Amino acid sequence: MFFTLTIGKRLLVVFIALFLTACSEENTEIELAQNTIQESGQKSGYPVLEVYKSSTCHCCGKWMEHLEEHGFQTTGQNINHLSALKSEKNIQPQYQSCHTAVSKEGYVFEGHIPAKYIQQFLQEKPDGAIGLAVPAMPLGSPGMEMGDDFDPYDILLLKADGSAEVYARINTREEQYQ
Ligand code: CU
Ligand code: CU
Repeated sequence: MFFTLTIGKRLLVVFIALFLTACSEENTEIELAQNTIQESGQKSGYPVLEVYKSSTCHCCGKWMEHLEEHGFQTTGQNINHLSALKSEKNIQPQYQSCHTAVSKEGYVFEGHIPAKYIQQFLQEKPDGAIGLAVPAMPLGSPGMEMGDDFDPYDILLLKADGSAEVYARINTREEQYQ
């Protein structure tokens, strides 16, 4: 069976492709779950992130749950023209993922970034930076959990000039949450 195969790099790519496909499929149950999250998410004093996503994407909702569990309030905005929003926010195609979160200061947080790095960024507010990105959808990142599988990835610091540099290298599942 597919899921019991030893997972090599090629299969990881296939998994990611499957997740991306899942993002474009209808799923009303998830929308209902999302509304519940939004209602329970009003914790005063926590930073608010507006999350722009597709109404049918399962992993976006799971990432929002991760944020809610780690010191954020989130509000989900389902929109049809995500790629227009991403280019308006100056997120270059090679840094893009499924969802785009925007803080009240206007910083952008693209993809499955662990909450603690967003907290760190919002404290530091690095000069010339517009936000953070985890391009594509790494297996095992917050909202992309699949058992114990984990694919190391970089969190990128996005610059106003369209360039990026590595903000943090994530080598293990654990360091996403500690
Ligand atoms: Cu995703
Ligand atoms: Cu997403």
